[in-house]
Parts: sequence; structure tokens; C-alpha cells
Amino acid sequence: MTASQTELKAGGLKLAIDGEVATVTLARPERRNAMTPAVWHGLAAIGASLPAEVRVVVVRGEGPSFCAGIDLRLLSGEGVPGEEPVTSAADADFDQRVAGYQAGYLWLRDPAIVSVAAVQGHAIGAGFQLALACDLRILADDAKLCMREPALGLVPDLTGTHPLVGIVGLPRATELCLTARTVTADEALVLRLAELVVPGAELDAAVSDLVAALLSVDTTAARATKALLQQASRNTLSEQAAAERRAQADLLSSRLGRP
Ligand code: ACO
Repeated sequence: MTASQTELKAGGLKLAIDGEVATVTLARPERRNAMTPAVWHGLAAIGASLPAEVRVVVVRGEGPSFCAGIDLRLLSGEGVPGEEPVTSAADADFDQRVAGYQAGYLWLRDPAIVSVAAVQGHAIGAGFQLALACDLRILADDAKLCMREPALGLVPDLTGTHPLVGIVGLPRATELCLTARTVTADEALVLRLAELVVPGAELDAAVSDLVAALLSVDTTAARATKALLQQASRNTLSEQAAAERRAQADLLSSRLGRP
């Protein structure tokens, strides 16, 4: 069962599933796709109900910006009509509630899929973290990335610090977060925050080309390889070599139809 229309509507999300490819679209361009708890819950519901045959998930935003981050009305106290308030330290279940928001991001790392963020315009705060949650990022040349949370008196807590440090390294991640400065598409390419930068008009075509290339390799091998790559940085060389042997044995055994 896929995420319900109610969950998608509440989060201003669109979901299109075409065989092995799912496209998730943040679709509140009039608010630059600003995020609320309903968006994070909707994303989590999509992840929890993704059909098993889906191999690639594209995450995109409608309008001029990929995502302007958290809806600032949630932070100002104004609130967003019809939306639950964002959790505060006064809530006894604060940890659980934030974990619920993070669930909207974490599924994008599942080895069963490759997630691709298609980023045009701004990706700020929670929106930058959504792009970081994806395995790969293709940026339009007008893309602007910013981890604004520290400037607003917050830490980034939507799972973005782990991939950020992994991609750009600790010193650069420290500099980017603690200055809350904006990274342009050109710099993002240098910092490896983008696999590719293309003119805005070519973003969709570039994403389609990448999706086709990702689908061209063997499904089971792709899933096993992603799982292997994900553990490489925390394993020693000999642990990783052993993991490769195990993964290969499992893969070849699965083709023989035995456990
Ligand atoms: N929350 C709520 N509304 C927003 C947000 C936001 N994060 N971002 C944009 N909007 C609204 C604007 O208020 C405006 O609404 P209005 O038409 O009713 O006035 C509409 O979206 C369009 O915004 P503009 O600022 O006019 O659009 P522009 O394209 O010029 O700028 C930009 C886009 C750069 C994203 C700008 O809107 C911005 O800086 N937004 C705030 C970003 C931010 O600080 N986010 C929080 C990060 S921290 C975190 O996510 C935890």
C-alpha cells in the first residue's frame, strides 16, 4: 500500500510511481516548499510504503526553489493554520517527535533504492538536509545550499550532519554550518555536494539520464553494492574485504535459489 492521499495532501507532497522509479515532489511552490511536521510525516509514509520494485527515488521541488527549509511560522510562534506545532523542549516526547521527523529523511538511504535530489534554486536548512539525505545530487546552475540552522539558534537535526561531514570533511562542514553561508552550485561541485551541475532548463533531462543509467545495472547487485559501500568507511580494510566476500557469496547463492 502506498502513502495515503491524505498523508500526501497534508504535506503538500506529490508521489508518482512509474515501475522502478518513484518521484517525490515538494509541491508548495508559493511557500518555496517550506516544511512542516506534516511534510516530514508524509515523506516517512512514502518511505514506509514504497513498492518493493522501486529502485530509484527522485526528490524534487516545484517552483523556483527546491526547499526553503522549515516553515518559519513554526519558529516565530505564529504557527501554520491546520498544522501541528513543531515540537519544543517542553514536550516530554521531544526525542520521539524529532525521531519521527527524521524518519522522513532516513529511508532515502535504504540500500534497496538509490535516491537522487534534483535541486534548483534554494535548498536551505531542512531543505538542504533533504538533499543531503539523498545518495546523489544533481544541481541546476542557480542552486544555492545553506545550513542556516545555527544562524537561527538551532542545530541541524534532520540527519544532515552525518552526510555533510562524510562528503565535505569535518573542517569544511564546520565552516559551512558555523558561518551558515550559502554555497553556490559551482562551489557545490568542487565540494562534491553535487555529482553534476547543469543549466536549469536541463535539470529534468539530466535526472532522467542518471535514472536510466542507474536502472541499467543488475537490481540485486546494485542493492548489495550500495549496502557494501555504506559500511566501507566504518570498516577496517580486512573487515570490508570480508564483507565483500560475504556479499558476493550471498548474491551468487541467491541466483542458485538457495539461502
Ligand atoms: N517559511 C515560511 N514561508 C516561507 C519560507 C519559509 N521557510 N520561505 C519562503 N516563504 C514564503 C515567503 O514568506 C513568501 O510568502 P508571501 O508570498 O506570502 O510573502 C513566499 O514564500 C515566497 O518567498 P520569497 O522570499 O518572496 O521568495 P524568493 O524566491 O525571493 O526567496 C528564499 C526564496 C531565499 C528561500 C527566501 O524565501 C528565504 O530566505 N526563506 C527563508 C529561508 C529560511 O531561513 N529557512 C529556514 C532554514 S532553518 C531550518 O530549516 C531548520
